[in-house]
Amino acid sequence: MFYDRERELEKLEEVYSFPGSSFLVLYGRRRVGKTTLVREFLKDKPGLYFFVSEKDEALLLDEYSREIEERLSEYLPSYLKPKFGSLEELVEFLLDFSRERKLVVVFDEFQNFRAVKPSFFSSLQKLWDEKKDTSNLMLIAVGSYVGMIKRLFMDSKESLFGRVDEWMKLRPFDFWTSFTFVRSLVDIPPRDFVELYSALGGMPRYLLYIPRYYKGNSIETLKALFFDEFAPLREEGLNILKLEFGRFYRAHFSILEAVSLGHVTPKEISDKTGMKLLTVGKYLSELTNHYEYLTREVPVTENPLKTRKVAYRISDEFFSFWFRFVYHNYTALEEDPERVFERFKAEFPAFVGKTYERIALGFVRHLRLGFKPERVGRWWHKKEEIDVVAYDRDNVALFEVKWSDLSLRDSRKVLKALEKKAKLLPLRGNYRFGIIARGLEGKEELRKEGFLAFDLIDIIQQRPLSLSL
Ligand SMILES: Nc1ncnc2c1ncn2[C@@H]1O[C@H](COP(=O)(O)OP(=O)(O)OP(=O)(O)O)[C@@H](O)[C@H]1O
Ligand SMILES: [Mg+2]
Repeated sequence: MFYDRERELEKLEEVYSFPGSSFLVLYGRRRVGKTTLVREFLKDKPGLYFFVSEKDEALLLDEYSREIEERLSEYLPSYLKPKFGSLEELVEFLLDFSRERKLVVVFDEFQNFRAVKPSFFSSLQKLWDEKKDTSNLMLIAVGSYVGMIKRLFMDSKESLFGRVDEWMKLRPFDFWTSFTFVRSLVDIPPRDFVELYSALGGMPRYLLYIPRYYKGNSIETLKALFFDEFAPLREEGLNILKLEFGRFYRAHFSILEAVSLGHVTPKEISDKTGMKLLTVGKYLSELTNHYEYLTREVPVTENPLKTRKVAYRISDEFFSFWFRFVYHNYTALEEDPERVFERFKAEFPAFVGKTYERIALGFVRHLRLGFKPERVGRWWHKKEEIDVVAYDRDNVALFEVKWSDLSLRDSRKVLKALEKKAKLLPLRGNYRFGIIARGLEGKEELRKEGFLAFDLIDIIQQRPLSLSL
């Protein structure tokens, strides 16, 4: 069953409708759903799907000829069996074929051509330059290793540099799409879902484990997915990232592990890993801009280009969880899995709390606050922190986020503390205070008193609330 991806399909259809040829790169992290998306797109149009496995050119060409025979038989004379002596011949054939009619051609795991035939990139470039203006080929290169794909197409020393017309980064499902996706397959309480989501993120492939492994509570489910001897996701992080970073994976891993453990500034990471500050800076910038595994955050009131108050976090829930609880405990996991699991149980609620803060942030972005915030984000200064701040020139809305069930008394305490912290903010205007908890007693009462009060049910329903300020 194919789910969602409407905007992506729309974009692909749009490019398809352009006259002439287009070169599109579809990239995104492993398991995010790239292959599924292009297959869905190909369903109702003349198109070819080629998977680039790391094997001999001749073997690949055999496979590709069969695909052509199957998919294009109605356009080819019956006596003609497609046969190609080289990848170049194949590409030439495709470009010529599409003179008469639009054709989509997908190369999945495009970067693997490097292992099959390194010279192919430059011959593809030559053929493309020569023939694209007279043909109607929509060429889609799909790639899983973001770093490699960027190098292939964005490095000015590479032959395919500058040939790409369209870039499409496929992202994981957002929290709400993930929830409805899983709920269409299995009945799971929203609370358990948030906990599982904080470890799996919006990766369709991982979310699909939930219907199979869900055991009536999230802790046992995570144990089966990550910690047991044959847990399907125990090696996943290593398998994916080793290929991405190649020979240099150890340094990248140390940094990601440090960040996952809460060492989030360059200085803290340098102290933790023992790497020089300068080296850490270089890796951080690579992991953020090139590989896109880290996200750089600044307090919401700061200018991101000027401030020195930066903190990093792992962008992807899965990797964040995997480094924090699996990789960090690799040896112990072999020796004493029970102890690892006990520690995990103790530390997990705080971890979910962080995920819930980010979900709440997304929720506030869509909330009708009575003004249109210029910025929505987290704020911190020294030891003080405010989970969500939304503001424009005249208005400020602040939220404390709690992954717990609060009594009315608890809530009042939390709101009081928030009002106090607000004095530290360098923002003027009309202030509103809010709380977003897992469960909230006396929600209506708080609202009557003018507070912004929400719990998980509101988040799940994402009710468009209009609140006047
Ligand atoms: N839009 C979707 N709707 C339903 N299921 C999906 C969707 N996208 C992906 N999946 C499921 O997730 C799995 C992983 O997706 P897919 O193989 O397309 O990812 P990929 O990005 O190509 O990953 P890989 O790096 O493993 O090649 C698929 O087997 C499919 O079952
Ligand atoms: Mg794939």
